[in-house]
Amino acid sequence: MRTIMRVLVTGSVGFIGYHLCSRLAADGHEVVGLDSFSDYYDISLKENRLARLLRLDGFRFYRADIADAHALEKVFVYGFDMVVHLAAQAGVRYSIENPTAYVQSNLVGFANILECCRKYDVKRLLFASSSSVYGETNGSCPNVEKDDTNRPVSLYAATKKADEVLAYSYSHLYGIKTVVMRLYTVYGEWGRPDMAYFKLADCLYQGEPFTLYNGGNDIRDFTYVGDVVESVSRLAAREDGARYEVYNIGCGNPVRTGAFLEELVCMFGERGLIKDGRCYTNIAGAQLGDVACTCADSVELEKAIGYKPHTPTQEGLSRFADWYKEYKTSR
Ligand SMILES: NC(=O)c1ccc[n+]([C@@H]2O[C@H](COP(=O)([O-])OP(=O)(O)OC[C@H]3O[C@@H](n4cnc5c(N)ncnc54)[C@H](O)[C@@H]3O)[C@@H](O)[C@H]2O)c1
Repeated sequence: MRTIMRVLVTGSVGFIGYHLCSRLAADGHEVVGLDSFSDYYDISLKENRLARLLRLDGFRFYRADIADAHALEKVFVYGFDMVVHLAAQAGVRYSIENPTAYVQSNLVGFANILECCRKYDVKRLLFASSSSVYGETNGSCPNVEKDDTNRPVSLYAATKKADEVLAYSYSHLYGIKTVVMRLYTVYGEWGRPDMAYFKLADCLYQGEPFTLYNGGNDIRDFTYVGDVVESVSRLAAREDGARYEVYNIGCGNPVRTGAFLEELVCMFGERGLIKDGRCYTNIAGAQLGDVACTCADSVELEKAIGYKPHTPTQEGLSRFADWYKEYKTSR
């Protein structure tokens, strides 16, 4: 029989948070969502996600900034069996432009989350780290969890690595059972407008030129959001496991970003960019902070939960394209 939990999900109106809250509430858990509504991308998308979440039984929402310790404590007072921490300043490239946002949310905010878990006796913490922690140190893809993560090549990656280390000390000192989830380029419906596939959809829809970085030659282990949510909900339901665990959550099927994006162009048919049989694209160079290749070895995940991400990009992208077209026409 499934144990019903009271769960705090931070970053709940973000892309992955929205999907995870929907799933946990559908599974009968009492879900409290927390988010600051950061304006890193279009707030209306977050408002629309929240409007849908508020219709679910067992879901409640608090607007708070995790970097504000006092505001965070007011939510933790409520008492949680588990915290799934997804709130963060995401994105590799923006960390070059606005490092302070990463220090505030991913370092100060993360330390506040740990302190609240200690103070309010939260027994279990799951949090989102990133494939970017592997940096360029391991030219050999796929990466296994024990690979070196000491040479991150962006501030974003460095903050995620720091979070992993901070969480280790809290788990050791206070017995907080901790699961580090290294996520790989997550895509899907209700996605993030700063990511290449969403930007391409916008360009296709509006008939504008699209900027393709590094000639589309970066290799990414694109992972469908439904697979991520399934993995996280199984990790959350698991009662065994060590005090501190790290898992890659990725498909293990890396593709060139150019090829991934071309699949999406086909799904938009004749509209937008495809004119005279050509896709009008600006080609830009490699971006500072980006790594050449990501690929997950998710063997450990599969051993732990009997599941690993597997949705083919054709299927995941087609779900995204259907959602995108419907979302745009309904507004
Ligand atoms: N999407 C991916 O490809 C991917 C890959 C690797 C890791 N991750 C990690 O997964 C998590 C979720 O990512 P996402 O793609 O859903 O991003 P997202 O930006 O859509 O969601 C993050 C949410 O956190 C909120 N937030 C940011 N700073 C906050 C703060 N100080 N206080 C409270 N809320 C704050 C934002 O408002 C946002 O709604 C993040 O930790 C991200 O770093 C995502």
